[in-house]
Amino acid sequence: MKMRKKEEFQKKIQAHVEHFEQNGRFFQQHNYPHHKHVSVHEHVRHVAYTALKIAHSLKVKVDEDKLIRAALLHDYYLYDWHDDEAWHKFHGFKHPRFACDNAHRDFGLCEREQDAILKHMFPLTIKPPKHREGWLITLADKICAFKECWIKNWSYETTR
Ligand SMILES: [Fe+2]
Ligand SMILES: [Fe+2]
Repeated sequence: MKMRKKEEFQKKIQAHVEHFEQNGRFFQQHNYPHHKHVSVHEHVRHVAYTALKIAHSLKVKVDEDKLIRAALLHDYYLYDWHDDEAWHKFHGFKHPRFACDNAHRDFGLCEREQDAILKHMFPLTIKPPKHREGWLITLADKICAFKECWIKNWSYETTR
């Protein structure tokens, strides 16, 4: 992908990150480790970038703002899932609902964004996403989780 496009995507994502940091609890995600060396804050930026990149490469028509917002908020559950706490046991199944409720409370979400967040663990959630944005986030989430776990120091800043 061309450098200009990469920078354009990063700028768009950064604008949403800044809005979320100024108006909600988004910055807290720096404190929660996700996969190996990657925090939830980094992970959701990876997912937003990867989802945009796939949409662009495959020429999938999407609402870019909704795609970025839902991607950045898809893991907005705001706790460390590694902690042994009864209320977030079965994290894989429960966290999409926690993330969606927190994000809706802090930022207000449209139906398309809510559906994408609630279904991002598909096929674990059984019901598939209803919209293209949701499918892209589901796919990007799995790609990023794999790379974060298995490629040392991987991040979208260093990935073309
Ligand atoms: Fe998740
Ligand atoms: Fe995720």
